[in-house]
Amino acid sequence: MPVVSMMSLSDNPPLVGVSCGLSHSTTKTIIKAKRFSVSWLDLSHVPEMERMVAIPGSKTTDKLKAAGLHHHRGRALQTPVIDEATAYLECAVVDRYTLGDHELIVGVVREAKATADFRDYWTFSDYRPILYVGSPDRFRVYEPGRSRD
Ligand SMILES: Cc1cc2nc3c(=O)[nH]c(=O)nc-3n(C[C@H](O)[C@H](O)[C@H](O)COP(=O)(O)O)c2cc1C
Repeated sequence: MPVVSMMSLSDNPPLVGVSCGLSHSTTKTIIKAKRFSVSWLDLSHVPEMERMVAIPGSKTTDKLKAAGLHHHRGRALQTPVIDEATAYLECAVVDRYTLGDHELIVGVVREAKATADFRDYWTFSDYRPILYVGSPDRFRVYEPGRSRD
């Protein structure tokens, strides 16, 4: 599922956190599998992200495929890693905190891969991040240089 709430929690050990709605099928899958992957998609993949929100995981056996994305098993934990990802992490769940209607899932990074754009300070010369600016009627992202409608 698309997430905005993913955050870096610790460098050593390498920990990340994702706040996941308890009703989402992705959350249930992560809790059951005790592992997950995080992928960074380029702006060119906004249509697939839109489809990921429109297609409930509970109604399909392969939500990524249904959204138009491809995936393979990661080397470290065999989590589904998106082929189209510019960068990804494979994480094992090490902690969970229930916070109201969300679960803060903490993962230790077991495998990380990224293009050179993700060096120490993210300068992004080729990768174009998806900057979600929301909207109740349709999915909107911020595109530098493009005026808002
Ligand atoms: C840009 C964007 C960011 C989102 N971020 C989160 C998030 O951080 N946590 C979350 O629980 N849901 C988030 N959502 C909502 C889920 O991605 C959405 O409900 C998804 O369809 C759940 O699918 P599932 O039920 O198949 O798991 C986000 C949605 C969008 C469009």
